[in-house]
Amino acid sequence: MFEEPEWAEEAPVATGLEPVAARPRPAAASQIKVPLEDESVDVAVFCLSLMGTNIRDFLEEANRVLKPGGLLKVAEVSSRFEDVRTFLGAVTKLGFKVISKDLTNSHFFLFDFEKTGPPRVGPKAQLTGLKLQPCLYKRR
Ligand SMILES: C[S@@+](CC[C@H](N)C(=O)[O-])C[C@H]1O[C@@H](n2cnc3c(N)ncnc32)[C@H](O)[C@@H]1O
Repeated sequence: MFEEPEWAEEAPVATGLEPVAARPRPAAASQIKVPLEDESVDVAVFCLSLMGTNIRDFLEEANRVLKPGGLLKVAEVSSRFEDVRTFLGAVTKLGFKVISKDLTNSHFFLFDFEKTGPPRVGPKAQLTGLKLQPCLYKRR
């Protein structure tokens, strides 16, 4: 489903930085199963990408690959949230602690979480707070 994206040609970079082409590039992968070891990354970012109805799978995968104490950053369209408190409660049950929430922007909400451990609920536990509204695109 996810093909290797086209990458920009090498761009001029500031002196002292290695050429863009020499740096590791991100690879396209499903958020449900990313090709990373358990507890191997410091930061996981979901920027406008909690798109599926299986947000829980995405967040559990982020939990798997994050190191203990790792940072989970979420930026999402504000209109998708019916109740931010239940969303935060549900994410907490998946093994995260809320570090900060920024609800000041009219269009986007920003959240930071710290990984506290593995999910604290079993796979059958209902987490209704993770049901976000569909993202509606409006013609401008
Ligand atoms: C609204 S775009 C946001 C793109 C980018 N993160 C940004 O902020 O500009 C949503 C992205 O989520 C990706 N996405 C949705 N479900 C995904 C999944 N299960 N695994 C990987 N990517 C997914 C889509 O392919 C799309 O690129």
